[in-house]
Amino acid sequence: MEGNGSGTQNGNHRAGAGRVYIFDTTLRDGEQSPGFHLNATSKLRLARQLQRLGVDVIETGYPSQSASEQEAAKRIAREIREVTVTALAKAARDEIDTVWSAIKDAETPQIHVVLPVSDLHIERKLGMTRAEVLRKGTEAIAYARSLCDRVQYSAEDAGRASIDYLVESVEAMIEAGATVVNLPDTAGYCVPAEFGELVRHVMTQARGAGHVLFSVHCHNDLGLATANAQAGLEAGARRVECTVNGIGERAGNTSLEEIVMLLKVRKARLGLDTSVDTTEITRTSRLVAELTGTPVQPNKAVVGANAFAHGGAMQQEGVLKDRASYEIMRPEDVGLAESRIVLTARSGRGAFRHRLARLGLKTNQRSEDAAWDRFLRIADTKPEVTDDDLRAIVGGAESASHQGQSSDADAHVADALRHLIFG
Ligand code: KIV
Ligand code: ZN
Repeated sequence: MEGNGSGTQNGNHRAGAGRVYIFDTTLRDGEQSPGFHLNATSKLRLARQLQRLGVDVIETGYPSQSASEQEAAKRIAREIREVTVTALAKAARDEIDTVWSAIKDAETPQIHVVLPVSDLHIERKLGMTRAEVLRKGTEAIAYARSLCDRVQYSAEDAGRASIDYLVESVEAMIEAGATVVNLPDTAGYCVPAEFGELVRHVMTQARGAGHVLFSVHCHNDLGLATANAQAGLEAGARRVECTVNGIGERAGNTSLEEIVMLLKVRKARLGLDTSVDTTEITRTSRLVAELTGTPVQPNKAVVGANAFAHGGAMQQEGVLKDRASYEIMRPEDVGLAESRIVLTARSGRGAFRHRLARLGLKTNQRSEDAAWDRFLRIADTKPEVTDDDLRAIVGGAESASHQGQSSDADAHVADALRHLIFG
Protein backbone atom coordinates (compact mmCIF):
# COMPACT_ATOMS: atom_id res chain seq x y z
CA MET A 1 0.00 0.00 0.00
CA GLU A 2 1.14 3.55 -0.58
CA GLY A 3 2.57 5.47 2.38
CA ASN A 4 0.35 7.31 4.85
CA GLY A 5 -0.46 11.01 4.52
CA SER A 6 -1.27 12.43 1.16
CA GLY A 7 0.97 10.14 -0.85
CA THR A 8 3.51 12.76 -1.85
CA GLN A 9 6.63 12.48 -3.95
CA ASN A 10 8.43 12.99 -0.63
CA GLY A 11 6.47 10.05 0.72
CA ASN A 12 8.06 8.03 -2.05
CA HIS A 13 11.50 8.98 -0.85
CA ARG A 14 10.63 7.57 2.57
CA ALA A 15 9.80 4.28 0.89
CA GLY A 16 12.89 4.44 -1.34
CA ALA A 17 13.32 6.59 -4.43
CA GLY A 18 12.99 3.60 -6.75
CA ARG A 19 9.72 2.30 -5.35
CA VAL A 20 6.97 2.29 -8.00
CA TYR A 21 3.36 2.04 -6.85
CA ILE A 22 1.09 -0.21 -8.87
CA PHE A 23 -2.40 1.18 -9.52
CA ASP A 24 -4.52 -1.61 -10.92
CA THR A 25 -7.42 -0.53 -13.11
CA THR A 26 -8.45 -3.96 -14.42
CA LEU A 27 -11.84 -3.55 -12.72
CA ARG A 28 -12.42 -0.10 -14.24
CA ASP A 29 -10.59 0.66 -17.51
CA GLY A 30 -10.18 -3.05 -18.23
CA GLU A 31 -13.72 -4.05 -17.39
CA GLN A 32 -15.36 -1.20 -19.33
CA SER A 33 -13.93 -2.43 -22.63
CA PRO A 34 -16.16 -4.62 -24.83
CA GLY A 35 -16.21 -8.29 -23.89
CA PHE A 36 -14.74 -7.94 -20.38
CA HIS A 37 -17.80 -7.34 -18.22
CA LEU A 38 -17.60 -8.38 -14.55
CA ASN A 39 -20.44 -8.31 -12.02
CA ALA A 40 -19.97 -7.18 -8.42
CA THR A 41 -19.23 -10.70 -7.15
CA SER A 42 -16.58 -11.30 -9.82
CA LYS A 43 -15.03 -7.91 -9.10
CA LEU A 44 -14.74 -8.80 -5.42
CA ARG A 45 -13.14 -12.16 -6.28
CA LEU A 46 -10.63 -10.44 -8.50
CA ALA A 47 -9.94 -7.73 -5.91
CA ARG A 48 -9.03 -10.46 -3.40
CA GLN A 49 -6.55 -11.89 -5.89
CA LEU A 50 -5.15 -8.42 -6.66
CA GLN A 51 -4.57 -7.97 -2.93
CA ARG A 52 -2.68 -11.30 -2.89
CA LEU A 53 -0.70 -10.13 -5.90
CA GLY A 54 0.42 -7.11 -3.89
CA VAL A 55 -0.85 -4.14 -5.89
CA ASP A 56 -0.92 -0.78 -4.10
CA VAL A 57 -4.18 0.65 -5.45
CA ILE A 58 -7.34 -1.02 -6.77
CA GLU A 59 -9.72 1.02 -8.90
CA THR A 60 -13.10 -0.65 -8.51
CA GLY A 61 -14.98 0.98 -11.39
CA TYR A 62 -17.18 3.94 -12.17
CA PRO A 63 -19.91 4.01 -9.48
CA SER A 64 -22.08 6.65 -11.19
CA GLN A 65 -22.69 4.13 -13.97
CA SER A 66 -25.00 1.79 -12.05
CA ALA A 67 -26.15 0.33 -8.74
CA SER A 68 -24.05 -2.74 -9.47
CA GLU A 69 -20.91 -0.58 -9.83
CA GLN A 70 -21.71 1.03 -6.47
CA GLU A 71 -22.21 -2.36 -4.87
CA ALA A 72 -18.87 -3.61 -6.24
CA ALA A 73 -17.04 -0.56 -4.87
CA LYS A 74 -18.72 -0.90 -1.47
CA ARG A 75 -17.95 -4.59 -1.11
CA ILE A 76 -14.33 -4.11 -2.13
CA ALA A 77 -13.90 -1.07 0.15
CA ARG A 78 -15.30 -2.95 3.14
CA GLU A 79 -13.31 -6.13 2.69
CA ILE A 80 -9.96 -5.35 1.08
CA ARG A 81 -7.24 -4.21 3.46
CA GLU A 82 -3.71 -2.84 3.07
CA VAL A 83 -4.52 -1.59 -0.42
CA THR A 84 -5.74 1.89 -1.39
CA VAL A 85 -9.25 1.61 -2.85
CA THR A 86 -10.37 4.16 -5.42
CA ALA A 87 -13.17 4.73 -7.92
CA LEU A 88 -13.68 7.15 -10.79
CA ALA A 89 -15.80 10.29 -10.99
CA LYS A 90 -16.12 13.03 -13.56
CA ALA A 91 -15.58 16.56 -12.19
CA ALA A 92 -19.11 16.89 -10.81
CA ARG A 93 -20.34 16.97 -7.22
CA ASP A 94 -22.98 14.28 -7.65
CA GLU A 95 -20.43 11.82 -9.13
CA ILE A 96 -17.91 12.65 -6.40
CA ASP A 97 -20.60 12.07 -3.75
CA THR A 98 -21.44 8.71 -5.33
CA VAL A 99 -17.79 7.65 -5.30
CA TRP A 100 -17.30 8.80 -1.73
CA SER A 101 -20.35 7.00 -0.39
CA ALA A 102 -19.15 3.80 -2.14
CA ILE A 103 -15.52 3.82 -0.95
CA LYS A 104 -15.51 5.70 2.33
CA ASP A 105 -15.31 2.49 4.39
CA ALA A 106 -11.99 1.53 2.79
CA GLU A 107 -8.92 1.47 5.03
CA THR A 108 -7.33 3.97 2.62
CA PRO A 109 -9.89 5.50 0.26
CA GLN A 110 -8.97 7.74 -2.67
CA ILE A 111 -11.32 9.73 -4.91
CA HIS A 112 -10.28 9.75 -8.59
CA VAL A 113 -11.45 12.76 -10.62
CA VAL A 114 -10.95 12.86 -14.40
CA LEU A 115 -11.15 16.01 -16.49
CA PRO A 116 -10.03 16.59 -20.11
CA VAL A 117 -7.02 18.78 -20.75
CA SER A 118 -6.54 18.65 -24.55
CA ASP A 119 -8.26 21.28 -26.71
CA LEU A 120 -9.79 18.48 -28.77
CA HIS A 121 -11.56 17.05 -25.72
CA ILE A 122 -12.34 20.43 -24.16
CA GLU A 123 -13.86 21.96 -27.28
CA ARG A 124 -15.29 18.98 -29.17
CA LYS A 125 -16.27 16.63 -26.35
CA LEU A 126 -17.23 19.09 -23.62
CA GLY A 127 -18.05 22.18 -25.74
CA MET A 128 -16.28 24.32 -23.13
CA THR A 129 -13.33 26.72 -22.92
CA ARG A 130 -10.02 26.10 -21.14
CA ALA A 131 -10.95 28.66 -18.46
CA GLU A 132 -14.32 26.99 -17.81
CA VAL A 133 -12.68 23.59 -17.49
CA LEU A 134 -10.11 24.95 -15.02
CA ARG A 135 -12.87 26.42 -12.88
CA LYS A 136 -14.93 23.25 -12.96
CA GLY A 137 -11.86 21.15 -12.16
CA THR A 138 -10.62 23.20 -9.22
CA GLU A 139 -14.12 23.25 -7.70
CA ALA A 140 -14.41 19.47 -8.08
CA ILE A 141 -10.97 18.74 -6.66
CA ALA A 142 -11.51 21.06 -3.70
CA TYR A 143 -14.87 19.44 -3.03
CA ALA A 144 -13.41 15.91 -3.26
CA ARG A 145 -10.59 16.95 -0.92
CA SER A 146 -13.12 18.22 1.62
CA LEU A 147 -14.38 14.62 1.81
CA CYS A 148 -11.22 12.56 1.47
CA ASP A 149 -7.48 12.94 2.25
CA ARG A 150 -6.46 11.38 -1.03
CA VAL A 151 -7.64 12.88 -4.28
CA GLN A 152 -6.29 12.01 -7.71
CA TYR A 153 -6.57 14.40 -10.62
CA SER A 154 -6.32 12.74 -14.05
CA ALA A 155 -5.60 15.16 -16.89
CA GLU A 156 -7.43 13.26 -19.61
CA ASP A 157 -5.69 13.26 -23.01
CA ALA A 158 -2.55 14.87 -21.54
CA GLY A 159 -0.58 13.18 -24.34
CA ARG A 160 -2.18 15.51 -26.92
CA ALA A 161 -2.60 18.64 -24.80
CA SER A 162 -0.86 22.01 -25.05
CA ILE A 163 2.07 21.60 -22.66
CA ASP A 164 1.62 25.09 -21.19
CA TYR A 165 -2.06 24.54 -20.47
CA LEU A 166 -1.26 21.12 -19.01
CA VAL A 167 1.23 22.70 -16.59
CA GLU A 168 -1.31 25.41 -15.72
CA SER A 169 -4.00 22.79 -15.04
CA VAL A 170 -1.71 20.66 -12.90
CA GLU A 171 -0.71 23.70 -10.83
CA ALA A 172 -4.35 24.68 -10.35
CA MET A 173 -5.43 21.17 -9.29
CA ILE A 174 -2.52 20.83 -6.86
CA GLU A 175 -3.46 24.16 -5.35
CA ALA A 176 -7.08 23.00 -5.11
CA GLY A 177 -6.00 19.93 -3.13
CA ALA A 178 -5.03 17.10 -5.48
CA THR A 179 -2.57 14.71 -3.82
CA VAL A 180 -1.91 12.58 -6.91
CA VAL A 181 -1.55 13.87 -10.48
CA ASN A 182 -2.07 11.32 -13.22
CA LEU A 183 -0.82 12.07 -16.74
CA PRO A 184 -2.65 9.84 -19.21
CA ASP A 185 -1.79 9.18 -22.83
CA THR A 186 -5.50 8.56 -23.26
CA ALA A 187 -5.47 7.99 -27.02
CA GLY A 188 -2.22 5.97 -27.07
CA TYR A 189 -0.67 8.61 -29.33
CA CYS A 190 2.73 9.38 -27.81
CA VAL A 191 6.09 7.79 -28.48
CA PRO A 192 8.23 6.94 -25.45
CA ALA A 193 10.82 9.75 -25.64
CA GLU A 194 8.02 12.29 -26.14
CA PHE A 195 5.92 10.96 -23.26
CA GLY A 196 8.94 10.82 -20.94
CA GLU A 197 9.72 14.43 -21.83
CA LEU A 198 6.10 15.43 -21.13
CA VAL A 199 6.24 13.87 -17.65
CA ARG A 200 9.67 15.39 -16.91
CA HIS A 201 8.49 18.82 -18.05
CA VAL A 202 5.36 18.83 -15.89
CA MET A 203 7.20 17.46 -12.87
CA THR A 204 9.91 20.10 -13.09
CA GLN A 205 7.82 23.08 -14.22
CA ALA A 206 4.51 22.86 -12.36
CA ARG A 207 4.38 24.77 -9.08
CA GLY A 208 3.73 22.40 -6.18
CA ALA A 209 4.80 19.31 -8.16
CA GLY A 210 7.21 18.28 -5.39
CA HIS A 211 4.28 17.81 -3.00
CA VAL A 212 2.27 15.29 -4.99
CA LEU A 213 2.70 11.81 -6.35
CA PHE A 214 2.90 11.61 -10.15
CA SER A 215 1.26 8.74 -11.98
CA VAL A 216 1.10 7.63 -15.63
CA HIS A 217 -1.71 5.92 -17.54
CA CYS A 218 -0.96 4.79 -21.09
CA HIS A 219 -3.12 3.23 -23.77
CA ASN A 220 -1.88 0.74 -26.31
CA ASP A 221 -3.29 2.00 -29.62
CA LEU A 222 0.17 1.87 -31.23
CA GLY A 223 1.46 -0.99 -29.07
CA LEU A 224 3.52 1.42 -26.94
CA ALA A 225 1.62 1.43 -23.64
CA THR A 226 4.28 -0.39 -21.64
CA ALA A 227 7.16 1.50 -23.30
CA ASN A 228 5.45 4.83 -22.62
CA ALA A 229 4.72 3.93 -19.01
CA GLN A 230 8.36 2.94 -18.53
CA ALA A 231 9.47 6.26 -20.07
CA GLY A 232 7.16 8.08 -17.64
CA LEU A 233 8.67 6.20 -14.69
CA GLU A 234 12.20 6.92 -15.88
CA ALA A 235 11.22 10.58 -16.07
CA GLY A 236 10.23 10.53 -12.40
CA ALA A 237 6.63 9.35 -12.04
CA ARG A 238 6.32 6.80 -9.25
CA ARG A 239 2.88 5.37 -9.83
CA VAL A 240 1.76 3.43 -12.89
CA GLU A 241 -1.79 2.56 -13.86
CA CYS A 242 -2.09 -0.82 -15.51
CA THR A 243 -4.35 -3.82 -16.05
CA VAL A 244 -3.91 -7.57 -15.83
CA ASN A 245 -3.51 -9.06 -19.34
CA GLY A 246 -3.33 -5.47 -20.64
CA ILE A 247 -7.10 -5.27 -21.06
CA GLY A 248 -8.72 -1.85 -21.41
CA GLU A 249 -10.36 0.61 -23.78
CA ARG A 250 -9.68 -0.19 -27.46
CA ALA A 251 -6.22 -1.82 -27.66
CA GLY A 252 -5.92 -1.83 -23.88
CA ASN A 253 -3.69 -0.34 -21.20
CA THR A 254 -0.17 -0.88 -19.97
CA SER A 255 -0.15 -4.51 -18.96
CA LEU A 256 0.52 -5.07 -15.26
CA GLU A 257 2.58 -8.18 -15.83
CA GLU A 258 4.70 -6.46 -18.48
CA ILE A 259 5.57 -3.36 -16.48
CA VAL A 260 6.16 -5.32 -13.26
CA MET A 261 8.41 -7.89 -14.93
CA LEU A 262 10.18 -5.18 -16.90
CA LEU A 263 11.10 -3.41 -13.66
CA LYS A 264 12.15 -6.70 -12.06
CA VAL A 265 14.15 -8.13 -14.97
CA ARG A 266 15.86 -4.80 -15.79
CA LYS A 267 16.26 -3.60 -12.20
CA ALA A 268 20.01 -3.14 -12.58
CA ARG A 269 19.45 -0.69 -15.40
CA LEU A 270 16.28 1.08 -14.29
CA GLY A 271 16.72 1.06 -10.51
CA LEU A 272 12.96 0.72 -9.99
CA ASP A 273 10.98 -1.83 -8.05
CA THR A 274 7.44 -2.75 -7.01
CA SER A 275 5.97 -4.71 -4.12
CA VAL A 276 4.17 -7.18 -6.39
CA ASP A 277 4.56 -10.86 -5.58
CA THR A 278 5.36 -11.87 -9.15
CA THR A 279 4.72 -15.55 -8.43
CA GLU A 280 1.00 -14.64 -8.31
CA ILE A 281 1.02 -13.21 -11.86
CA THR A 282 -0.01 -16.35 -13.75
CA ARG A 283 -2.79 -17.17 -11.27
CA THR A 284 -4.14 -13.60 -11.56
CA SER A 285 -3.97 -13.61 -15.34
CA ARG A 286 -5.88 -16.90 -15.49
CA LEU A 287 -8.53 -15.63 -13.10
CA VAL A 288 -9.09 -12.53 -15.27
CA ALA A 289 -9.38 -14.73 -18.36
CA GLU A 290 -11.78 -17.09 -16.58
CA LEU A 291 -14.03 -14.40 -15.06
CA THR A 292 -14.22 -12.31 -18.24
CA GLY A 293 -14.50 -15.38 -20.46
CA THR A 294 -11.77 -13.95 -22.71
CA PRO A 295 -8.60 -15.98 -23.19
CA VAL A 296 -5.16 -14.42 -23.40
CA GLN A 297 -3.53 -14.39 -26.86
CA PRO A 298 -0.86 -17.15 -26.97
CA ASN A 299 2.02 -14.80 -27.77
CA LYS A 300 1.16 -12.26 -25.05
CA ALA A 301 4.28 -11.18 -23.16
CA VAL A 302 4.73 -12.84 -19.74
CA VAL A 303 1.33 -14.57 -19.51
CA GLY A 304 0.63 -15.97 -23.00
CA ALA A 305 0.73 -19.75 -23.43
CA ASN A 306 3.84 -19.34 -25.61
CA ALA A 307 5.67 -16.90 -23.33
CA PHE A 308 7.76 -19.76 -21.95
CA ALA A 309 7.36 -22.26 -24.79
CA HIS A 310 10.03 -23.08 -27.37
CA GLY A 311 9.06 -24.48 -30.76
CA GLY A 312 11.95 -23.89 -33.19
CA ALA A 313 14.92 -26.23 -33.54
CA MET A 314 17.58 -23.60 -32.89
CA GLN A 315 15.78 -22.20 -29.84
CA GLN A 316 15.16 -25.67 -28.39
CA GLU A 317 18.81 -26.65 -28.76
CA GLY A 318 19.85 -23.44 -26.98
CA VAL A 319 17.34 -23.79 -24.13
CA LEU A 320 18.22 -27.45 -23.57
CA LYS A 321 21.87 -26.46 -23.12
CA ASP A 322 21.17 -23.37 -21.04
CA ARG A 323 17.69 -21.93 -20.72
CA ALA A 324 19.14 -18.43 -20.32
CA SER A 325 19.98 -18.63 -24.04
CA TYR A 326 16.39 -17.66 -24.82
CA GLU A 327 14.70 -16.98 -21.47
CA ILE A 328 15.24 -13.60 -19.82
CA MET A 329 13.06 -14.48 -16.85
CA ARG A 330 12.43 -17.69 -14.99
CA PRO A 331 8.96 -19.24 -15.36
CA GLU A 332 8.93 -19.83 -11.58
CA ASP A 333 9.15 -16.06 -11.08
CA VAL A 334 5.74 -15.58 -12.67
CA GLY A 335 4.21 -18.62 -10.99
CA LEU A 336 4.68 -21.20 -13.74
CA ALA A 337 6.12 -24.63 -12.92
CA GLU A 338 8.48 -24.71 -15.89
CA SER A 339 8.99 -23.66 -19.47
CA ARG A 340 7.94 -26.00 -22.28
CA ILE A 341 9.70 -27.53 -25.21
CA VAL A 342 6.88 -27.97 -27.70
CA LEU A 343 7.42 -30.57 -30.41
CA THR A 344 6.24 -29.19 -33.73
CA ALA A 345 7.13 -29.51 -37.42
CA ARG A 346 9.92 -26.97 -36.78
CA SER A 347 11.46 -28.80 -33.82
CA GLY A 348 14.99 -30.14 -33.78
CA ARG A 349 16.32 -33.66 -33.43
CA GLY A 350 17.89 -32.75 -30.06
CA ALA A 351 14.53 -31.73 -28.59
CA PHE A 352 12.91 -34.87 -30.00
CA ARG A 353 15.62 -37.05 -28.44
CA HIS A 354 15.34 -35.16 -25.15
CA ARG A 355 11.60 -35.78 -24.96
CA LEU A 356 11.99 -39.49 -25.77
CA ALA A 357 14.48 -39.76 -22.92
CA ARG A 358 12.13 -37.95 -20.52
CA LEU A 359 9.36 -40.36 -21.45
CA GLY A 360 11.70 -43.33 -20.98
CA LEU A 361 11.25 -44.34 -24.63
CA LYS A 362 14.34 -46.25 -25.63
CA THR A 363 15.59 -46.37 -29.22
CA ASN A 364 18.73 -47.49 -30.99
CA GLN A 365 20.26 -45.51 -33.84
CA ARG A 366 18.18 -47.31 -36.48
CA SER A 367 14.85 -47.11 -34.70
CA GLU A 368 15.47 -43.49 -33.74
CA ASP A 369 16.06 -42.63 -37.40
CA ALA A 370 12.80 -44.34 -38.29
CA ALA A 371 10.95 -42.64 -35.44
CA TRP A 372 12.31 -39.23 -36.48
CA ASP A 373 11.07 -39.76 -40.04
CA ARG A 374 7.63 -40.63 -38.74
CA PHE A 375 7.71 -37.73 -36.32
CA LEU A 376 8.34 -35.28 -39.19
CA ARG A 377 5.48 -36.69 -41.21
CA ILE A 378 3.07 -36.56 -38.28
CA ALA A 379 4.25 -33.10 -37.18
CA ASP A 380 3.23 -31.72 -40.58
CA THR A 381 -0.37 -32.73 -39.90
CA LYS A 382 -0.95 -31.08 -36.50
CA PRO A 383 0.13 -28.10 -34.41
CA GLU A 384 1.83 -30.09 -31.65
CA VAL A 385 3.12 -33.67 -31.36
CA THR A 386 2.05 -34.95 -27.97
CA ASP A 387 3.62 -37.51 -25.66
CA ASP A 388 0.98 -40.06 -26.67
CA ASP A 389 1.86 -39.47 -30.32
CA LEU A 390 5.51 -40.10 -29.47
CA ARG A 391 4.71 -43.37 -27.75
CA ALA A 392 2.87 -44.51 -30.85
CA ILE A 393 5.66 -43.29 -33.13
CA VAL A 394 8.38 -45.06 -31.17
CA GLY A 395 6.29 -48.20 -30.78
CA GLY A 396 5.93 -48.35 -34.56
CA ALA A 397 9.57 -47.58 -35.19
CA GLU A 398 10.69 -50.26 -32.74
CA SER A 399 8.63 -52.99 -34.38
CA ALA A 400 9.84 -51.83 -37.80
CA SER A 401 13.48 -52.07 -36.83
CA HIS A 402 13.01 -55.45 -35.08
CA GLN A 403 11.00 -57.06 -37.81
CA GLY A 404 12.58 -55.23 -40.70
CA GLN A 405 9.01 -54.93 -42.04
CA SER A 406 8.59 -51.26 -42.30
CA SER A 407 5.27 -51.39 -44.13
CA ASP A 408 3.57 -53.29 -41.27
CA ALA A 409 5.12 -50.95 -38.74
CA ASP A 410 4.01 -47.94 -40.73
CA ALA A 411 0.49 -49.28 -40.80
CA HIS A 412 0.62 -49.79 -37.02
CA VAL A 413 1.76 -46.19 -36.43
CA ALA A 414 -0.68 -44.78 -38.94
CA ASP A 415 -3.53 -46.59 -37.16
CA ALA A 416 -2.40 -45.45 -33.74
CA LEU A 417 -2.01 -41.87 -34.89
CA ARG A 418 -5.29 -41.83 -36.79
CA HIS A 419 -6.89 -42.88 -33.54
CA LEU A 420 -5.06 -40.18 -31.57
CA ILE A 421 -5.76 -37.41 -34.03
CA PHE A 422 -9.30 -38.19 -35.09
CA GLY A 423 -10.46 -40.14 -32.03
O1 KIV B 1 -7.49 6.93 -20.46
C1 KIV B 1 -7.76 7.78 -19.59
O2 KIV B 1 -7.47 8.97 -19.71
C2 KIV B 1 -8.48 7.31 -18.42
C3 KIV B 1 -8.62 8.27 -17.28
C4 KIV B 1 -9.89 8.05 -16.55
C5 KIV B 1 -7.44 8.13 -16.36
O3 KIV B 1 -8.84 6.17 -18.35
ZN1 ZN C 1 -7.74 4.89 -19.77
